[in-house]
Amino acid sequence: MKFTRRAALGIAAAVPVFGLGRAAHADPIVIKFSHVVSPDAPKGKSALLFKQLAEKYTNGKVSVEVYPNSSLYKDKEELEALQLGSVQFLAPSISKFGPLGVKEFDVFDLPFLMTDDTHARAMMASPMMADFNKKLEDKGVKPLAYWDNGAHVYTANKPLIMPDDFQGMKMRIQGSKVLEAVARQLGAIPQIIAFGELYQALQTGVVDGEDNVPSNIWTQKFYDVQKYLTVSHHGRLTYSLITNTTFWNGLPPDVRPGLDQAVAESTQFFDDTAAHDNVAALDQIKATGKMEFHVLTDDEKKAWIAKLMPVHQEMEGRFGKDFIQAVYKASGFVPPQA
Ligand code: LMR
Repeated sequence: MKFTRRAALGIAAAVPVFGLGRAAHADPIVIKFSHVVSPDAPKGKSALLFKQLAEKYTNGKVSVEVYPNSSLYKDKEELEALQLGSVQFLAPSISKFGPLGVKEFDVFDLPFLMTDDTHARAMMASPMMADFNKKLEDKGVKPLAYWDNGAHVYTANKPLIMPDDFQGMKMRIQGSKVLEAVARQLGAIPQIIAFGELYQALQTGVVDGEDNVPSNIWTQKFYDVQKYLTVSHHGRLTYSLITNTTFWNGLPPDVRPGLDQAVAESTQFFDDTAAHDNVAALDQIKATGKMEFHVLTDDEKKAWIAKLMPVHQEMEGRFGKDFIQAVYKASGFVPPQA
């Protein structure tokens, strides 16, 4: 008989445990990792890689259960579940942190603030992020990494070319107050809808449109229920890989280095994957022939910027002018002159 590793494990399992140390038989620490996207989206793939690496680097002392597609919790519920300790890992969009009582992350939704990779990376690498992290830590939430998923495009059931086209449209937004202000400034009616309910909301006309990254539009098949796509790059989708602080700090010392390594490598994988997947998704959506694409011209973009910059001023009331200026500086954003 060939003595395979599986056979060895089978025999080991059948051997009485007398004399073996407790540690050898302790149940693994379970990390439940809940998320709302497809296993094929960059976040879904990175979560699965994290599972594989975390289990390998901790020699099985940790077991990771990944729950994709809102199968365990939806947007708001998963944050509550993390705080309660019912789930240990999430990677939500940072535009959804408002319900935690942390409003500062909404600032990243200021229109056109981080539309290109350079500004987004500068922001995430800036020392200012330590202040943002502290806000989460005060709520019992520990950020382990940021995963930048690129710039948003709009989809809708009618073409969105000029700002006026949004007039009266019911637009789905994530939770952020800035996104609400953006929709209102465009003359649209904003509606917060959990990502897991979005396909149906678009299909049944509860909302007329939404904004997202192409890899989500592709993996959620929004092209089946939306006819038009505008490459507008007006905002950005950033995730934070977060855990429950008490859980994290209570981990045995021999487990943490393996998990740190798994976090670092899955973050690198996410960075290597996200941009590529967004480009590929646009091609894949185009190939279905189900959506009409429009890329904003320079003049159209100027009109969008002129329409939406007042949201920056309006939000000084919410965040303070100094705070917004500090974010401009950290990201390298220069407000366009009128
Ligand atoms: C959304 O809610 O539109 C997205 O942020 C979902 C996600 O996590 O990518």
